[in-house]
Amino acid sequence: MALTKLVKTPLSPSLRLKVLNILIRFCPPIFKSMRRLLHRSRIGTFVEYTFAGLIEQELDPSPFEQFERWFQQVVSADVHLPNAMTLATSTKEGIPSARIVLLKDFDTHGFVFYTNYDSSKAKELAENPNASLVFFWKELGRQVRIKGTISKVSDEKSDRYFQSRPIESRLAAVASKQSEIIPNRKVLEDRFEQLTNEYRDKEIPKPPNWGGYCLSPNTIEFWQGRPNRLHDRLRYTRQPDGEWQIERLSP
Ligand SMILES: Cc1cc2nc3c(=O)[nH]c(=O)nc-3n(C[C@H](O)[C@H](O)[C@H](O)COP(=O)(O)O)c2cc1C
Repeated sequence: MALTKLVKTPLSPSLRLKVLNILIRFCPPIFKSMRRLLHRSRIGTFVEYTFAGLIEQELDPSPFEQFERWFQQVVSADVHLPNAMTLATSTKEGIPSARIVLLKDFDTHGFVFYTNYDSSKAKELAENPNASLVFFWKELGRQVRIKGTISKVSDEKSDRYFQSRPIESRLAAVASKQSEIIPNRKVLEDRFEQLTNEYRDKEIPKPPNWGGYCLSPNTIEFWQGRPNRLHDRLRYTRQPDGEWQIERLSP
């Protein structure tokens, strides 16, 4: 009862966390219920965004240039894994699935990542090429949402990228039947060791079932967190003539 009251008091979220942490340290018997409350209070914490805004006059007419500009700023801000993005795909029946992949290249054709062509995502893309990407750069209060269609990149491009990877990553790509069920970890490690011996001093060829996909966008939305939840959302939509229309969306 008293604990519930504490969590509901109008203390600032950070002060509330400090008080809860002290209580947890000195009241071990009630540790479990306190931890639950602390967890709830963390989820309830509100983040206030204090970043500069995104206004129409400063946007680049090309979403690719705008993305490049934001990406550079994210890299300069030392964001951890700035190229990590959520890739959402779906079956032809519309059952969705999402996972993180790494952006490896982008230009006016689209956004490129590499994966296994027999994986679950690849099976979904084969039956439904519509997909979506999301970047979240919390350090700058930014999100970019991209929708479009996906196709494989050329074998030459995949080959070039494969050969640029560290040896261990190349071997792992050969060893892994991505998304398949395996009986235990040892199977994977044994296969890796076997391949390490097999390809000692030899070039590791790119497996035919491994390569890149490029998402060619039809919409790209740039989201900038602003004070009082009055966030900026600016969306580029590709027009039939190839031009990009820019619209502001309500947050
Ligand atoms: C930070 C991070 C980066 C990842 N990068 C890739 C990647 O570039 N390519 C990839 O196939 N999987 C990557 N994965 C693993 C995927 O999230 C996923 O587990 C895997 O691709 C299998 O997905 P699927 O079964 O839906 O095909 C990454 C995971 C994390 C957490």
